[in-house]
Amino acid sequence: MKRIRLGVNIDHVATVRNARGENYPSPLRAAKLAEKNGADSVTIHLREDRRHINEFDLKKIIKELKIPLNLEIAATKEMLRIASRSKPPYICIVPEKRKEITTEGGLNLNYNKNFLKILIKRLKKNNSRISLFIEPSLKDLENAKKLGANCVEIHTGKLCNLINKKRNYKNELKKIQAAVDKGNKLGLEVHAGHGLTYISAKILSKIKGIKEFNIGHFLIGESIFEGMPSSIKKFKRILK
Ligand code: PXP
Repeated sequence: MKRIRLGVNIDHVATVRNARGENYPSPLRAAKLAEKNGADSVTIHLREDRRHINEFDLKKIIKELKIPLNLEIAATKEMLRIASRSKPPYICIVPEKRKEITTEGGLNLNYNKNFLKILIKRLKKNNSRISLFIEPSLKDLENAKKLGANCVEIHTGKLCNLINKKRNYKNELKKIQAAVDKGNKLGLEVHAGHGLTYISAKILSKIKGIKEFNIGHFLIGESIFEGMPSSIKKFKRILK
């Protein structure tokens, strides 16, 4: 069986840099190190408030990275303009609220449907692979297909929270399995991400049909203690 691909999200390297307004640690250096150590792709989220990655990072990373760059963007005209110019190979459309600490849930696919459809159509013209970040909801999977997405990324935040708090996560895992099955049936490539740790990634990797995991906060946090190459390799072993 083919192993699950690992996308390494390096946003929080930029968070540390921005905390001091310096030009280090370098997100580009992190992206190259992820590439060197077996990441299948690198993810960055260009937020409206630029709290971590900025357009200069995007330009440098897209120019130098040999593995695919996965750009996460909100469904806005500004982001459509930026993504159309930079043409990243992968794009993941995510919901965004200014005051949230992180992406708190999946996209509401009933809101702004027409704009989403136009956005997907335009971005696909550049041969970008378009993914929608959604809750494990069967209805959302149908909607994602209707909107023309190539992939969906299932928000795993709820599952990871339950696992972290040592609460019963079986129902949430079943819900994700049903969503993954539905996505595969519809011909969508299914990915997963948000809040994943070594433990939750291992549990989730038992589900069949997920092609890619996108992992950031925990992986970058662990890199402080064991180094990024080691943290990436540990996740890769889990996703084998
Ligand atoms: N996938 C998507 C779509 C995200 O928005 C995020 C967080 O930015 C992640 C994956 C990674 O989540 P985490 O940083 O919790 O691993």
